[in-house]
Amino acid sequence: MAYLQPDAPEKVYLPFIRAAKEKGEKLVCLTAYDYPTARIVDEAGVDMILVGDSIGNVIHGYGNTIPVSLEEILSALIAVKRATERAMVIADMPYGTYHVSAEETVRHALKLMKYGGAEAVKLEGGRNRVELVKRLVDEEIPVVAHIGLTPQSVYKLGGYRVQGRTTEAAKRLIEDAKMLEAAGAFAIVLELVPREVAEIITEQLEISTIGIGAGTHCDIQVLVLHDLVGMTFGRQPRFVRQYANIREVMTEAIKNWASDVKTGAYPNESETYGLTDETKKQLKLSDSAKG
Ligand code: KIV
Repeated sequence: MAYLQPDAPEKVYLPFIRAAKEKGEKLVCLTAYDYPTARIVDEAGVDMILVGDSIGNVIHGYGNTIPVSLEEILSALIAVKRATERAMVIADMPYGTYHVSAEETVRHALKLMKYGGAEAVKLEGGRNRVELVKRLVDEEIPVVAHIGLTPQSVYKLGGYRVQGRTTEAAKRLIEDAKMLEAAGAFAIVLELVPREVAEIITEQLEISTIGIGAGTHCDIQVLVLHDLVGMTFGRQPRFVRQYANIREVMTEAIKNWASDVKTGAYPNESETYGLTDETKKQLKLSDSAKG
């Protein structure tokens, strides 16, 4: 059998992630939802790209992730996959796509892999997802679990708050993480979890923890790209460190362009196309109609 289109030798798959945990090497993961940002993220050397359902907040302006559809993730995923050479591409399973039955969940996950090119899927929930994780893993679908703050449960939780703060809640989170590991997840997102709890989970699991608002001990850190580069609106949670202000850069560029258009400074002659002298003569154009 010929193996067509071999991946780049450094392409990130599960063994790379396992080896990094064993060696104690930190990895990084960012979200992307389109070709240009995925390409920039991949070329910057980020190890994993998550086509997150945060697309609902960041791109579609829904206000939360509940309305995000499988089609929206698929469309973003296809573009991200085209742009990515090295990073592992993970697709979020949106709310409602893994809640009806195991069969339907597998069908949706397979669609993300076969048509979208996902190399793993992510779904939210703890012990209540154990059977589903086992089923997906049985079908050769690599799974990332997600516990702590699970934004798809925002109505049930009543807001975006740190989870696992009491002894009982912390113990439950640790148990959930162990159950998801036993079910076959290869990594677990810990979102908005006290750093001490994230440290315990990271130490006690053989699989990688992916932290967001969960402190420094996690094996992998993930952020929403748009938060990192300042392309979001409103107050940011405390774990977001903004490394650039792209919104300001874009606003400045747009204002300068609009002002140049209004004063006639844009476009200038070198930014336009003209006729040859011969054609101008034939069209009887005056000298002022420059080529
Ligand atoms: O959708 C998303 O971006 C996520 C990350 C915040 C982990 O789930």
